[in-house]
Amino acid sequence: MVSSAIHPLFFLSLLAFLPLFAASNVTLGSSLSATADNPSWVSPSGDFAFGFRQLNNTNTFLLAIWYAQLPDQTIVWHANTTSPVQTGSNIKLTANGLTLNDPNGLTIWTAQPNTTVNYGAMLDTGVYVWQSFDYPTDTILPTQILPLGGMLYSKLSQTNYTKGRFELHFMNGSLQLNPVAWPTENKYDLYYNSQTANSNSSLSGYQLVFNQSTDIYILFGNGSTFKLWPNNFPNSDNYYRATLDFDGVFRGYAYATTSAGIQSWSPVGHIPENICSDLRVSFLGSGACGYNSYCTANGAATSCHCPPGFSLIDPNNEYGGCAPDFPQDCGVDNGTSNPEDYYMTQVRDLNFPNGDYDMLGPYNNQTQCEQACMQDCNCVVAIFNGEFCWKKRLPLSNGRQETALAFFKVRKDSVATSTCKKDENVFPTCEKDKKVFWLSFLFGSSGLFNILLLGVISLTFFSRHQRKSRNTIRNTSVFEANLHVFTFEELKIATDGFKEELGRGSFGVVYKGAIKYGSKTQVAVKKLDKLSQGGEREFKAEVTAIGKTHHKNLVQLLGYCNEGPHRLLVYEFMSNGSIANFLFGIPRPDWFQRVQVALGIARGLAYLHEECSTPIIHCDIKPQNILIDDLFIPRISDFGLAKSLLYNQTRTHTGIRGTRGYVAPEWFKNVPVTVKVDVYSFGVMLLEIICCRKSVAQEFEDEERAILVDWAYDCFKEGSIDALVDNDDAAINDIETLRRWVMTAIWCIQEDPLRRPTMSMVIQMLEGYVEVPIPS
Ligand SMILES: *[C@@H]1O[C@H](CO)[C@@H](O)[C@H](O)[C@H]1NC(C)=O
Ligand SMILES: *[C@@H]1O[C@H](CO)[C@@H](O)[C@H](O)[C@H]1NC(C)=O
Ligand SMILES: *[C@@H]1O[C@H](CO)[C@@H](O)[C@H](O)[C@H]1NC(C)=O
Ligand SMILES: *[C@@H]1O[C@H](CO)[C@@H](O)[C@H](O)[C@H]1NC(C)=O
Ligand SMILES: *[C@@H]1O[C@H](CO)[C@@H](O)[C@H](O)[C@H]1NC(C)=O
Ligand SMILES: *[C@@H]1O[C@H](CO)[C@@H](O)[C@H](O)[C@H]1NC(C)=O
Ligand SMILES: *[C@@H]1O[C@H](CO)[C@@H](O)[C@H](O)[C@H]1NC(C)=O
Ligand SMILES: *[C@@H]1O[C@H](CO)[C@@H](O)[C@H](O)[C@H]1NC(C)=O
Ligand SMILES: *[C@@H]1O[C@H](CO)[C@@H](O)[C@H](O)[C@H]1NC(C)=O
Ligand SMILES: *[C@@H]1O[C@H](CO)[C@@H](O)[C@H](O)[C@H]1NC(C)=O
Ligand SMILES: *[C@@H]1O[C@H](CO)[C@@H](O)[C@H](O)[C@H]1NC(C)=O
Repeated sequence: MVSSAIHPLFFLSLLAFLPLFAASNVTLGSSLSATADNPSWVSPSGDFAFGFRQLNNTNTFLLAIWYAQLPDQTIVWHANTTSPVQTGSNIKLTANGLTLNDPNGLTIWTAQPNTTVNYGAMLDTGVYVWQSFDYPTDTILPTQILPLGGMLYSKLSQTNYTKGRFELHFMNGSLQLNPVAWPTENKYDLYYNSQTANSNSSLSGYQLVFNQSTDIYILFGNGSTFKLWPNNFPNSDNYYRATLDFDGVFRGYAYATTSAGIQSWSPVGHIPENICSDLRVSFLGSGACGYNSYCTANGAATSCHCPPGFSLIDPNNEYGGCAPDFPQDCGVDNGTSNPEDYYMTQVRDLNFPNGDYDMLGPYNNQTQCEQACMQDCNCVVAIFNGEFCWKKRLPLSNGRQETALAFFKVRKDSVATSTCKKDENVFPTCEKDKKVFWLSFLFGSSGLFNILLLGVISLTFFSRHQRKSRNTIRNTSVFEANLHVFTFEELKIATDGFKEELGRGSFGVVYKGAIKYGSKTQVAVKKLDKLSQGGEREFKAEVTAIGKTHHKNLVQLLGYCNEGPHRLLVYEFMSNGSIANFLFGIPRPDWFQRVQVALGIARGLAYLHEECSTPIIHCDIKPQNILIDDLFIPRISDFGLAKSLLYNQTRTHTGIRGTRGYVAPEWFKNVPVTVKVDVYSFGVMLLEIICCRKSVAQEFEDEERAILVDWAYDCFKEGSIDALVDNDDAAINDIETLRRWVMTAIWCIQEDPLRRPTMSMVIQMLEGYVEVPIPS
C-alpha cells in the first residue's frame, strides 16, 4: 500500500494513474477498441479515464488519459505513437502489459513493464506494473516526480498532438527548456536554465517534484528546495497540472472543483518569464511564433502577429508563421526592384534581432533609414534605434517587442488585394476573393448571408446602372473601393435640405436621407465640420481605406462627397439606434443578448485593428457609437476618421478626442496613441455591458461605486463579482463567464498600453479559448 501519510486526494489521483492495476475491474484480457464513443477505463475516483480519444473532425484517435469530469476532458498523457491511430485499433491488457494494435492486428505501441519497477500498491493486485507517470508527455500532475534524465515535450499546436517544437529536460541537476529544430531532434540554445547543478551531488538538484500542495520545486541532495514559481493558490479544492505548452511556456494550472473558484484551467505560474524575449537570439530557428511573425507576451499569455504585408501561412494556426503577401526580392517579377510600387509603413517597438545584412548610420532621423530600405530590393524591413539602421532580409525570425522602430516595405497593390481579410460571415473585401464569393452564392448558404448578398448585388447593379445612365455625376464619380462619390447637390436633395437631424457625433452632425441602394432607401448622411488645413488628400485616403472595410459588425460606408468646402459621408441607416438606449434602458436587456452584443463589437474592432493594411483606430469607442441593425447585430459607426481629422492638430492643444470616462490614460501623456486606446475604451464599455450601467454615474452616493471601473475592480478583488450584476439571474448562473469577462475587462483597462491585450486576444479571452490570467 502507499504510505499512510498521504492525503486521500493524493491517493486517488495516484490510483487514477494506475487504472489498470488499481481498478480491479480491468482484468487481464480486457480490451478497448477505438470507436466514436471514446471507450475508456475510469479510475476509481472517477477523475481520470484511460482509453481512446477521437481527434476533432477526423477518424483518428489518441490513446490517452484525461480528466473525465471536466467539460473539456483535458488530456494529460498520450501514448507516443508516431501518428494518431485509426478507427478499430485495439488496446489490450495481457500478462505482458499493454499492447496497441492497428485494425489489421499490427502492433504499433506497447507498454511492457519491468518486473523490477513494481509499485507497492500494484503488487497487491498481482498484476503487472506499468505507470504512465514514468512516461510523461507534456504534462505532470501533483504527486509526480521527474527524476534526473526525465523530459517533457510539447505538442505541435493546440489541436495537434504530434511532438512539437519545445522540450523540457531535467538533467545534470538543472531544469532546462530548449527549442528543437522541428521535426528533427536537434536542440537549439536553452531559453531557461534553473542553474541548480553543482558538481557536489549533495548540493545539486536531483528531482523535479510536483507535490500535492501544488508546489513545483527542484529538490537538492541536501533536502533544500528551489521553487519554480511562488505558490499563491494552495487549495485542495483545485485540480492542478503543469504543462509544457505548444508555445514553449511551462505553465502551472489550477481548475476549481467547486463553483466557488475558477472552473477553467487558469495559469498559476509559468517559466520562462517572457518567452518572446527569453528565447535566445541564436542565429538559428524561428523563435516562438514561426518565421516572419512576431511575439507578444501578456502575463502568462503569449500571442503571435503577422507584420504589415504578411499573412498567416495557415490561417488556423497563429503559431505557424507568416508569409509575405507579394514577391519580396530582386529576382522573380522584379520583386521589390521598383520603389514606386511600394510604400513604407512603420511599427513601433518591434525588432527582429537576426537577419541583418547592413548596418547604416549614424543617422539623425528615421527618414534616411526608411529611404535606404525603400531603395534596396533586398530589404524587407529596416530597424531604426534612433541612431543606426539595420536592413534585414527574409526570413525574419525571433520577432519581439523591443524599443525600436520597424519600417516594413509594402506593395501598394497588395493593400487592395490581400491585406484586408474577408469576414466569412458576410462578404469579402478583396478583389482577389470575388470568385470565392460568387461561388459560395451559387452553392447555397445561410439565409442571412443571402439577404446580405442580395443587398450587395443590387447595390452593385444599382451603381453600375448609375454610372452608365446618369451624367449628373461628375467624372470623378468612379467607384473607389466600391464607394459612390456624391455631389453636394445630390445629398442636399436626399436629405431634404439637411432637415432631419439624427444626432451629433464627433466631427459633425448626422442627418437622415433617402437614396435608393439595393432593397433599401434610407441612409445616414454625416456632414463633417471643417477640416484642418491640408486635410483634403488625407481625407480621400482615409475614406478610401474605410471604403475597403467590410464586416458585419461595422456600419458600411456607401459613399462620400468631397466638393469644395463640403465633406460628407453616406452610411447605411440603422433603424434601432445605439446600444446606449438599449443598455441603459428599462427593462434591462438579457445577459445572453448582452454577451452577443459585446462579442460582435469585439470582432468589429479586431477587424479594424488587425485585418486591414493599416490599422484603423477608432478613438471614440462608447455605447453611443455602436448602432444596432434590423437583425439586432451591433455595428460600430464613426470609425477611421480620427487620423485625418486629427492631422496637424496636437493633442495638447485640441484636448482629447474621445469621451470622458472612456479615454485611455496615454491621451494625457506625451506618448503616441495606438490601437490600444480602443482596447481601453472597449474595456470600459464591456463593464457597462456587463453591469448595464454607465461608466460614470452620479446617482451613487458612495464614491467607490460612482466610477464603474474602480467599483468593478474592487468587486473583483473582494471576490464579490455577483454584486456587479445584482438580480440578474442569468448572469449569476453563468458566473464563470461573468468572472472571465470581468477579468478580461480589467486587462483591457490596464494603465500600460503594452499590458492590454490585442482585440483578437480579447475575443479569445471572452470566448474562453484561452485562460484569462488573474489581472493585476
Ligand atoms: C471499477 O471499480 C470501481 C470500484 O472498485 C468502481 O468505482 C468503478 O466504477 C469501476 N469502473 C468501471 C469502469 O466499471
Ligand atoms: C515512446 O517512449 C518510449 C519510452 O520513453 C521509447 O522507448 C520509445 O522509443 C518511444 N516511441 C516513439 C515512437 O517515440
Ligand atoms: C528493467 O529491468 C532491468 C533489469 O532487470 C533493469 O536494468 C532496468 O533498469 C529496468 N528498467 C527500468 C525502467 O527500471
Ligand atoms: C476539439 O475542438 C474543441 C473546440 O474547437 C476544443 O476545445 C477541443 O480541445 C478539441 N479537442 C481535441 C482533442 O483537440
Ligand atoms: C499534425 O501536424 C503534422 C505535421 O505538420 C501533420 O503531418 C499531421 O497531419 C497533423 N495532424 C493532425 C491531426 O492535424
Ligand atoms: C553538469 O553540471 C556541472 C556543474 O555545473 C558542470 O560542471 C558539468 O559540465 C555539467 N555536465 C554536463 C554533462 O552538462
Ligand atoms: C559537498 O557539500 C557538503 C555540504 O556543503 C560538504 O559537507 C561536503 O564535504 C561536500 N563534498 C565534497 C566532495 O566537496
Ligand atoms: C543545499 O544546497 C543548496 C544548493 O547548493 C544551497 O543553496 C542550500 O543552502 C543548501 N542547504 C543546506 C541546508 O545546506
Ligand atoms: C510541498 O512543498 C512545500 C514546500 O515547498 C511544503 O511546505 C509542503 O508541506 C509540501 N507538501 C507536501 C504534501 O509535502
Ligand atoms: C524587370 O525590370 C527591367 C528593368 O527595370 C524591365 O526591363 C523588365 O521588363 C522587368 N521584368 C519584369 C518581368 O517585369
Ligand atoms: C531628416 O533629415 C533630412 C536630412 O538630414 C532632412 O531633410 C529631413 O527634413 C529630416 N526629416 C525629419 C522628419 O526631421
